[in-house]
Amino acid sequence: MQREQWNSRTGFILAAVGSAIGLGNIWRFPYMAYENGGGAFFIPYLFAMLTAGIPFMIMEFSLGHKYRGAAPKIFAQLGKSLGFRLEWLGWFQVFIAAVIAIYYVAIIGWAISYFVFSISQSWGTDTNAFFFNEYLQLGDNSPTKLGSMQFHIAIPMAIAWSVTTLAVYSGVKGGIERAGKIMMPLLFIMVLLFIARIVFLPGALEGLNYLFRPDFSMILNAKVWSAAYGQIFFTLSVGFAIMLAYSSYLPEKSDINNNAIMTVLINCGFSILGGIMIFSVLGYMAQEQAKPITDVVTSGVGLAFVTIPAAINLLPAPYIFGPLFFLALVVAGISSHISIIEAVVSAVIDKLSISRKKAALLVCGTGFVISMAFSSNGGLLLLDLVDYFINNIALLSSCLIELIILAWLFKIADIRDYANRCSEFSIGKWMEICLRFIGPIMLAIILVKNLINTLTDGYGDYPIADQLFLGWGLVASMLFAAIFISVISGNNISKEPKL
Ligand code: ALA
Repeated sequence: MQREQWNSRTGFILAAVGSAIGLGNIWRFPYMAYENGGGAFFIPYLFAMLTAGIPFMIMEFSLGHKYRGAAPKIFAQLGKSLGFRLEWLGWFQVFIAAVIAIYYVAIIGWAISYFVFSISQSWGTDTNAFFFNEYLQLGDNSPTKLGSMQFHIAIPMAIAWSVTTLAVYSGVKGGIERAGKIMMPLLFIMVLLFIARIVFLPGALEGLNYLFRPDFSMILNAKVWSAAYGQIFFTLSVGFAIMLAYSSYLPEKSDINNNAIMTVLINCGFSILGGIMIFSVLGYMAQEQAKPITDVVTSGVGLAFVTIPAAINLLPAPYIFGPLFFLALVVAGISSHISIIEAVVSAVIDKLSISRKKAALLVCGTGFVISMAFSSNGGLLLLDLVDYFINNIALLSSCLIELIILAWLFKIADIRDYANRCSEFSIGKWMEICLRFIGPIMLAIILVKNLINTLTDGYGDYPIADQLFLGWGLVASMLFAAIFISVISGNNISKEPKL
């Protein structure tokens, strides 16, 4: 079967940028920056972008372009040339994508609901009580005591699933590329419009000052570096099968280095826009309430769904800024959700040799049903726990293993040569240094620290049994399932020369 291809270079860039820019940029990045010392976060973040983000993106684009398959097929081929099985790593990444897809859609669902609420600010004045008590109806639930399914959350989630399913079902050109071409310009226009007005409000500059002023005392804190690296992999959609799948649809004549660097820079630039958007609003809110900025912020999910609605209440023309903010969040979220699902769908197509339409319906149908757990009363707690283990343990492990295999078992110079042969400008030796030394060392330190901290202190206040079952248990079963799939099935992969 002929592999599908992107129609144009712009189409590919918009789709890749659409994947990268997501909830991670508008929802996660600002609170990461806030929790990790405001401006101080930029130094590890930019360091992680240069030493891990750009080289990793070039590496994944090269692999996808060369091997023309989803993650399991690519790793199976790489393994074959080394003489051992590696397909499991591809499946492990696909499972990471699948799990992220099923909780990510819940946040998009909340954002859709909040888009509607924002028109008349029906969240009222106590936005905290509204979010936790009225909207989520959290009660005394826990990640394993979920309560019942909430239709007012399930319905917006179903809307998000429908858009994703339609895009993936309609194919690379007709669905995913088209969605990127519509969604990305729309997103940039909305965010720029929002910022253009908001930065002129009183107090906004104070907010920005907080975001950009580096607090150097945080720089030596390992937690800040861990957050920065975790954020870079999550925001760039690397290490969990997505960019491998997207680049496998590149036509033969494609400029890998340029495409990769553009995708990273546009994404990280957009994160800064996301930060400007949120912190100008917070600065304004602090000024209106005559409080220091640190007093108006809540961290985590609360930032987008508690603090921002409270700030919108205070804005001039809240019926414009509110919908603009939440629509931007929805559009950014759905364009990423499409890519996360595509990572799974493309792997299913490769493995089962079924049509895209069948694979899309199978994956989205199953995903929809499982994701309903996140529409329950305890959905937020389940999401928080699963998100922590997936990002801090599974994703970082997957990135580290990928790096070690590619940079130490293969000649990374060959990957760089391959990328350079396909590109207008060449990448220097620094890419090898980053991928062989800086990246693995940083990742190993962070991962070991995460493992030790999580093993000794656990995560949050969740019961140990919940953490064992939904945290460690989930990651372990993903790994076993990945190994199982790659062992039980052979693959029809021809012997390929080394990169
Ligand atoms: N890269 C996507 C995001 O940042 C997953 O949300």
